[in-house]
Amino acid sequence: MILSERLQSIADFIPNNTIVGDIGTDHGYLPVYLIENKIAKKVIATDISNNSLNKIIQFVESRCLKDFVDIRLGDGLEIIKPFEIDTVVIAGMGGILIKDILNKNKDIAESITNFILQPNIATKELREYLYQNEFEIIDEKLVEEGNKFYEIIYAKKGKMYLKDNIYLELGEKLILNRNPLLKRFIYHKIGILEDILQQLQDKDTEKSKDRYYELMDNIKELKGVLNKIEGI
Ligand SMILES: C[S@@+](CC[C@H](N)C(=O)[O-])C[C@H]1O[C@@H](n2cnc3c(N)ncnc32)[C@H](O)[C@@H]1O
Repeated sequence: MILSERLQSIADFIPNNTIVGDIGTDHGYLPVYLIENKIAKKVIATDISNNSLNKIIQFVESRCLKDFVDIRLGDGLEIIKPFEIDTVVIAGMGGILIKDILNKNKDIAESITNFILQPNIATKELREYLYQNEFEIIDEKLVEEGNKFYEIIYAKKGKMYLKDNIYLELGEKLILNRNPLLKRFIYHKIGILEDILQQLQDKDTEKSKDRYYELMDNIKELKGVLNKIEGI
């Protein structure tokens, strides 16, 4: 079974022989891949939607993996017991939802060793939560699929210090490891901000002026990182 580059990068972060919880599994590609490739001993695959759950039930049955993939319906970590899984994957949702899932069942989250998180949006808010709630980001990956970039965060419980606010927007590990896609990712972000600046130029309210200067500062910060990595 061949995964998309995004799902493969998530799978590559999962340590061998773990028991994995795939929260919001939807199609179930990841659980099936992890069992068929003997990466995970067992996967608990969950989803809040009945439709999604039916997809994975059929898929798992078609691959004869019922004994290895435990399929559960429910919200976030609510249907996981303490110490039942050692690795959790929460992927393909917004960063705020991911942070809410972690925060809502802190006792369960405390019992998990590896957190593989892939927010589609609001990565900054998710990193902020991780910094403020005793997580340590071990590594990050960046994947480009179609016209979209995906950031994948591998974290554990621990402690880390925010040395610069820009690390909320651009993961420090992506910069330190000189991720090959980082420059393209920054140019992509600057392009989006410049488009918004253009739209704001015609507006004359206090709020739009504040937003204009805020975005200008943001672009300056991003260009600062570009200069730094181009100079290395
Ligand atoms: C876009 S899919 C992502 C599927 C897969 N994780 C991936 O990365 O390809 C998001 C899935 O999360 C599920 N979901 C949303 N909120 C959830 C929650 N609170 N608990 C469990 N699943 C949730 C949705 O029903 C949907 O199936």
